[in-house]
Amino acid sequence: MARRRFELTEEDKKRKITKENLGEALEIFRFVLPYKWHFIAAMILLVLSSSVFLIFPDAAGEIANIANGKAKWGLTLNQMGLLLIALLAGQSLISFIRLILFTKVSEAGMADLRKHLYARLISLPVPFYDEHRVGELTSRITNDVSLLQSTFSITLAQFMRQGVIFLGGIVIIFIKAPKLAGLMLLTIPLVMIVAVIFGRFIRDIAKKRQDELAKSNVIVDESLQSINVVKSFTNEWWELLRYGGSVDSVVNISMKLAIWRGMFIVFIIAIMFGSIFFILWWGALLVADGEMPVGDLFSFILYTVFIGGAIASFGGVYEQILTALGATERIREILRKPNELEVGEKETPLKEHFKGEIAFNQVVFSYPTRQDMLILNGIDLEIKPGQKIALVGASGAGKSTIAQLMLRFYKPDSGSITIDGKNVQEIDLLQYRRNLAVVPQEVLLFGGTIQENIAYGKANASEEELIQAAKQANAWDFVNSFPEGLNTVVGERGIKLSGGQRQRIAIARAILRDPTVLILDEATSSLDAESEKVVQDALDKLMEGRTSIIIAHRLATIRNVDCIYVLENGQIVEKGTHDELIQVENGVYGALAKLQFELE
Ligand SMILES: Nc1ncnc2c1ncn2[C@@H]1O[C@H](COP(=O)(O)OP(=O)(O)O)[C@@H](O)[C@H]1O
Ligand SMILES: [Mg+2]
Repeated sequence: MARRRFELTEEDKKRKITKENLGEALEIFRFVLPYKWHFIAAMILLVLSSSVFLIFPDAAGEIANIANGKAKWGLTLNQMGLLLIALLAGQSLISFIRLILFTKVSEAGMADLRKHLYARLISLPVPFYDEHRVGELTSRITNDVSLLQSTFSITLAQFMRQGVIFLGGIVIIFIKAPKLAGLMLLTIPLVMIVAVIFGRFIRDIAKKRQDELAKSNVIVDESLQSINVVKSFTNEWWELLRYGGSVDSVVNISMKLAIWRGMFIVFIIAIMFGSIFFILWWGALLVADGEMPVGDLFSFILYTVFIGGAIASFGGVYEQILTALGATERIREILRKPNELEVGEKETPLKEHFKGEIAFNQVVFSYPTRQDMLILNGIDLEIKPGQKIALVGASGAGKSTIAQLMLRFYKPDSGSITIDGKNVQEIDLLQYRRNLAVVPQEVLLFGGTIQENIAYGKANASEEELIQAAKQANAWDFVNSFPEGLNTVVGERGIKLSGGQRQRIAIARAILRDPTVLILDEATSSLDAESEKVVQDALDKLMEGRTSIIIAHRLATIRNVDCIYVLENGQIVEKGTHDELIQVENGVYGALAKLQFELE
């Protein structure tokens, strides 16, 4: 969802600026604190350059006065020219330095915020990701932070500059021409405020028109993309009707927009220029009476235009603050969430290998997002160190859920999971997961080289270790057959590996990891018979001496495990070895086995 900069959403419009949310928003700016001296210097330069800017109308008026023979500053025209050049040069230099300083503060500060936010995101527990779409989360780290950044660098600077011009301008005109200034202050701000409100209203209608136009484009898109469906149902007439209706309503909105725009133009011409001319007329009377030099009137008008511009910009500032508040709220929502671990800067070393004795004791579980659906209803498992067990059952029975609980992605609602007699919840999470490895059904490789993908199991592995692991995983032959070997790029921009090849990369990863407990979640289910054989062979080597939980679809692969658990409706309905289970009369496993082995 790409959001345009500073476009007010419905939520933003309802938002009020309160002491609380402003305070919270300001807290985000602690990321700018390390650069506070840059910031203060930039602010001083900003005030300075805005003040210099305020000299220009006066100088322009003075030039007119000199030409009229009524010089006040005692300078010649040429000297005035030199003075203006000096001012301009100073102004440019100040603006340049200010821009660099501001960029440093906002870029570096926001980069810190982004790193902080990412560290939090990546250490949030899995249930958080069940509740949020990834696209929405990436938008927070990209769009929302960018929005804050431009509020900080552009809006804040603009606000300061316009504020100085507004206040300074008013003070100057009151000193120079109090009567005229009083008259101006009675008219111009009012007119500007009306103009700002008017403008906002027109923008809303323009946005509605844009939306309606987008809607009609969707109709064209959809109907042309599914042209076969349209034609087979002979619904061309219906699509035309839909499209026609939408296009017509664009016309209606456009007409409404035109009327308001027209009125706005009338307003500008009649009221705004009218009041400027009115002040001009009044001023001209003063000039005619000799109360005011003509150059002063000239600079007065320039100041008035500046002040008007400043007032107009304040309306935009308010809207930008509202959108920025929305962005900070969304960012802070993530920063406030408790993370499951603290991310360090190094790979966690494995402190101690578990023995690998696992027990599930009456584990009951439902997913937090679907509390009403009981997935596991009193599961008991018992695995001795180095044993292999298998979980079988229909799709959706809860096999993968058991693996997820084992990985501590979720907590059981009741009951407990222990390893070496200790409740897993009491073990340091990083150390705990460090002892586990998973080979899933679908392996997604990261964009990068094969070497990087294998080393994902152990960041500081030597090339020797990598090759050794690839060999054990039956991956070395095909990796070596690529011209680039381990440096072959895979993923979106690289070559595509087959399912069996990816599986073997995942196994090499797990070998490097050297886990105590291994979880295979249908690791060979999506492979053809031939690659299943090589992968199974690699898996057998990987499982040697490790406690293994095998989730299997094809029973042939689990014939030799120590115990098979049959899962149905969140409960274990049968358990035993293959030979024991096929003896069970009317057994679930027996029926399954019969079906599968007959088919072969
Ligand atoms: N993240 C999740 N959030 C909510 N429900 C889930 C989630 N993952 C799985 N489920 C549900 O839990 C049930 C068991 O799923 P799963 O353990 O994946 O089954 P299996 O691996 O045995 O096919 C299914 O009904 C599934 O829809
Ligand atoms: Mg599954």
